[in-house]
Amino acid sequence: MCGIVGFIGKKQAAPIILDGLSRLEYRGYDSAGMAIADGNTIRVVKAVGRLDILVEMTHNGETMKGTAGIGHTRWATHGQPTDVNAHPHTNVSGTITVVHNGIIENYLPLRKMLQSRGYEFKSETDTEVVPQLIDYYYKGDPLEAIQKTLHRIEGSYSLGILFADRPGELYAARKSSPLICAVSDDGAFIASDVPALLKYSRSVYYIGEEEIAKLTEREISFYDVDGVETEKTPTEIKWDSSAAEKGGYEFFMLKEIYEEPRTVRETLNPRIRDSRVEIEELGMSDEEIKAVRCLHIVACGSAYHAGMTSRYVFEGMARLPVDVDIASEFRYRNPILDPSDLVIVISQSGETADTLEALRVAKSKGCTVLAIVNVVGSSIAREADRVMYTWAGPEISVATTKAYSAQLIALYLLSIKFASARGVISDAEAGELLEELKKLPDQIELMLGSREKIQRFANRYVAARDVFFIGRGIDYAISLEGSLKLKEISYIHSEAYAAGELKHGTISLIEQGTLVAAVATQKELYQKIISNIVEVRSRGAFVLAVTNVGNSEIEKVADYVIYIPETNPYFTNSLAIIPLQLFGYYVSLGKGFDVDHPRNLAKSVTVE
Ligand code: G6P
Repeated sequence: MCGIVGFIGKKQAAPIILDGLSRLEYRGYDSAGMAIADGNTIRVVKAVGRLDILVEMTHNGETMKGTAGIGHTRWATHGQPTDVNAHPHTNVSGTITVVHNGIIENYLPLRKMLQSRGYEFKSETDTEVVPQLIDYYYKGDPLEAIQKTLHRIEGSYSLGILFADRPGELYAARKSSPLICAVSDDGAFIASDVPALLKYSRSVYYIGEEEIAKLTEREISFYDVDGVETEKTPTEIKWDSSAAEKGGYEFFMLKEIYEEPRTVRETLNPRIRDSRVEIEELGMSDEEIKAVRCLHIVACGSAYHAGMTSRYVFEGMARLPVDVDIASEFRYRNPILDPSDLVIVISQSGETADTLEALRVAKSKGCTVLAIVNVVGSSIAREADRVMYTWAGPEISVATTKAYSAQLIALYLLSIKFASARGVISDAEAGELLEELKKLPDQIELMLGSREKIQRFANRYVAARDVFFIGRGIDYAISLEGSLKLKEISYIHSEAYAAGELKHGTISLIEQGTLVAAVATQKELYQKIISNIVEVRSRGAFVLAVTNVGNSEIEKVADYVIYIPETNPYFTNSLAIIPLQLFGYYVSLGKGFDVDHPRNLAKSVTVE
C-alpha cells in the first residue's frame, strides 16, 4: 500500500528511485510518480498505471538529471487513480514537493483554512495539504516548517519532502506508517520497506513515531517533533538479498510456496531443545502461563485465518479459552479484557494499521501483548511487549503463503508450550507432538510434488463463477484460507462455510457443476463432512476433496481427491493448505493474471 523511495547522493537519483519502487511493487498501487531536484529546480513526472510507464517516459530515469529525488507508488484512498491525484504533490509554486503514505484525517478543515488564505488545490487528495501547509509555515527553516506541520496534521503518515531552495537536503517524517532510511557510499536513502534498500545497505534506521529525519549525501540526523535531535542505532538486516528476487520462478507466489518447507524449518527448529519447546522471546515462566485466563488473538486477512486455526489447537490441546477477532472489529468494540488475559496479534508485515491499533487498545487495557511478526523492526514488533518472529524472510507476493505457514508453526509451538505449562499434556506427549511437527517440512515437500496434478485440475476451473469451500473444525479454518487465496488472485467469487451451516442457506446456491472444495482431515468429523459432500453432490456439485492418506472410501462420494500425509490432527492445516494455495495460483495463472499483484489489493495495509 503506497511505496516511498527517496535518494540523495552522488549518483543520478531517478534510476535508483525507479529501481527501488520496482522492489516495492508488491505493496500494490495504481499510479506512480517521482520528483527530482536538479540544482534549484524540482521536476515532477507521474502516470496512472504500472511503474513501467514512468520507466518508459523517462528512459529508465536517464532523462531526469539531478542527484536527489523522491518517488511514490500510490494506492488510491482519497480521489480516483488519476495523474493529478498521483504523488508527488507540491505547493502552488512547485518549490516544496511531498510523497505520502497514510491518511491525513483532518485534511478537509486544513484545506479550507489554506484556501481561505489563497492557497489553490489541484487534486482531490488528502496529501496535497501537506506541501501547502509546509509552505504556509516555511520561513527558510525546513525543520521548523515540518515540525509545525506535524503538529497540525492528524492521522497517519510517512513523508518524503524536497525543498527547491535546499538542494543538498532530503527530509522524511513518520507516524503510524512505515519508513526506514540508510546511508551508503553512494548516498542516503529512505524507503517504505527493506527490499528497496537491500542493494545498498543492510544497516537500516527505523524512523520513530512522529520523528523527522534530515538526509544529506553523507549522513542522516533525527529529530523529535519539537526539533530536539535524537540518537539512533541502526538495525542489521540479515535477509539474503536473493530472497527478494524471483530466482527463475515466473511469479514470487510460486517461489514463496516452494520456500514453505524451509520457512517451517526455520521457524520451528530454533525453538525445540531436548524435545521441549523453548520460546525465549515469550519471556513467561510456567507460573505466568498458568495465570493466563484467556487468550485473545487479533489479526487481519490470512493472519486472522491462522488465528482461527489456532483457536481449535489452543482450546483442544491446552484447554484454554480463546477469542479470535478481526482487528478492525476488535479495535472499535471496546473489548472486555482482563489484565490477566494474553493478547496475541499476528501480522506478516508488522504494519497493518488495524492490527497495530488493536495492539494499542489491548495495551491500554493493561494486557500483555505478544506479537507474531515476520518483519523485524516493524511497528507492531516495536510496540508489542513480546515478539515471536516467524522466520519466513521477505514475502513479496501480495497473497501470503509462506508467512501464513510460518504463523501456523509459531502458534502450534505456543499451544504445546501452554498445554505443557498448564499440565494438560505430559512431557512425553509434548515430545510426540514435536516429533510430528519436525516431519512437516518433508511432508510439505511431498505435497509440492502434486503441483502438476493440481495445475491440470485448476485449468479446468479457470472459467468457474462460484466456488465453495467447506470443512468442520480445523478444516473450516483451512477452508477460510483456501477460499481467500482463490478469490484474491483469480477474482472468482468464492466462499468458505462451516459445513454444518450449509443447510441454513448456502446449499441453495449449489447448482449443476458448482465446484465445492471439501476439506476432510479431522477424524472425529469425517463422517459428518462425508454427509455434507453427499448433500452437495446430489444437487449437482463437482467435489474436490482434501483428506488424509488412507481415507480412500471418500473417492466414492468425491469427484477428485487430494491426499495429505498422516500427521497429528492439530497440524493438518500445514499440509492441506498447500494444494489449496497451488490451486489459487494455477487458476490465476491460467486466467493470465499478474498473480503477484492482484487488482485493488495491497500487501501491507497501512491505512484503515
Ligand atoms: C493484506 C494482505 C494479506 C494479509 C493481510 C494482513 O490484506 O494482502 O495477505 O494477510 O493484509 O497483513 P499482515 O501483514 O498484518 O499479516
